[in-house]
Amino acid sequence: MEYDVKDLNLADAGKKRIEWAERNMPVLRAIRKRFEEEKPLNGVRIAGCLHVTTETANLMRTLKAGGAEVRLAASNPLSTQDNVAAALVKHYGISVFSITGEDNETYYRHLASLLDMKPQITMDDGADLVATYHKKNYDFDVLGGTEETTTGVIRLKAMADNKALKYPIIAVNDALTKHLFDNRYGTGQSTLDGIIRATNILFAGINVVVAGYGWCSRGIATKARGMGSNVIVTEVDPVKALEAVMDGFRVMKMEKAAAIGDVFITSTGDINVIDKIHLDKMKDNAIVCNSGHFDVEINKNYLKDKAKKSYTARDFVETYIMEDGRRINLLADGRLINLSAAEGHPSMVMDMSFANQSLSAEYIWNNYKKLEKKVYVIPTAIDVNIAKLKLKTLGIEIDELTEEQRKYLSSWEIGT
Ligand code: ADE
Repeated sequence: MEYDVKDLNLADAGKKRIEWAERNMPVLRAIRKRFEEEKPLNGVRIAGCLHVTTETANLMRTLKAGGAEVRLAASNPLSTQDNVAAALVKHYGISVFSITGEDNETYYRHLASLLDMKPQITMDDGADLVATYHKKNYDFDVLGGTEETTTGVIRLKAMADNKALKYPIIAVNDALTKHLFDNRYGTGQSTLDGIIRATNILFAGINVVVAGYGWCSRGIATKARGMGSNVIVTEVDPVKALEAVMDGFRVMKMEKAAAIGDVFITSTGDINVIDKIHLDKMKDNAIVCNSGHFDVEINKNYLKDKAKKSYTARDFVETYIMEDGRRINLLADGRLINLSAAEGHPSMVMDMSFANQSLSAEYIWNNYKKLEKKVYVIPTAIDVNIAKLKLKTLGIEIDELTEEQRKYLSSWEIGT
């Protein structure tokens, strides 16, 4: 078996952590049990380019239980948990190619190792694997792929619009049981977790500036408020800005917020959301970090070029001392803070995201002949079923429509 991980001696610790996560992933466990019995992915080659976490390990185990041959590489150079990578190789017989802190060259070499298996299905988080496949003319066709995150879906939809996409994609991110929970509650909690682990700051009573008001950023804003912060939201979309206002947040331009904030968190998917003009206005000791997929949201080159000195104050904290003496603290070099300094979203929420991934792989395998080179949303029936299963595992029962209620509603549908 081929692999490239940091140290196989870490495998036992990784296995215990994977099993710990599994306890909070009941929906995925149920799918794994069915997959073990039915083997719906028998012999299918699946390449995953995902954050190498305990939760992803449980997804890989599920796909393997379904009969698939799987390979895994990281979707970000800083998001690999090395003991998880080791455990997947040693205890679960899964080929992993990822080492935390790997340089760009190694990162892309690892993606190439995924393509060496000639995957029939790709699983991406950020679309780097699809993009790598599209850059060359490989001698094999991929039948379909899945995409986990908002940024990846945006990239893939652009490729589909330009008629460049070579195979169909299921946008797992667009499933309701994914983005309403993972993006909102997962990113909300894990972002603050990452900032706290990196800095040990108190959130109560400070000014937190959140850039963006999509599902991820509204999760971050809400959790920060819950911790007692005064939260300011910046937005470019008038509707989202209005939502933030009516949700009770202060909304203003980043230029104004820059002078007020103690902590800045970006989660927009766009570049230089925190730019020179903002960095120049920040208070001494401001903390700046990013929770979006790519490390482009903060103009870190400006900090690096303009600072007269910098030093590593703590793990994941680089303090830049500017010409005027102000200190600006950049966390995790502007990479996603929740997966760099913390462990990503909790298992409880990844349970639904990865249930969507597993069932999307099964759906692609059963339906690829009917799918076009487009980006699809997961069928509603699968999405709703995941919500039902999650409620069941939480021991929550909900009402059902009576026959009378059903008839009443359908009479409106036919206009009588
Ligand atoms: N993305 C965000 N959190 C994650 C996690 N815990 N595992 C895999 N991907 C993630």
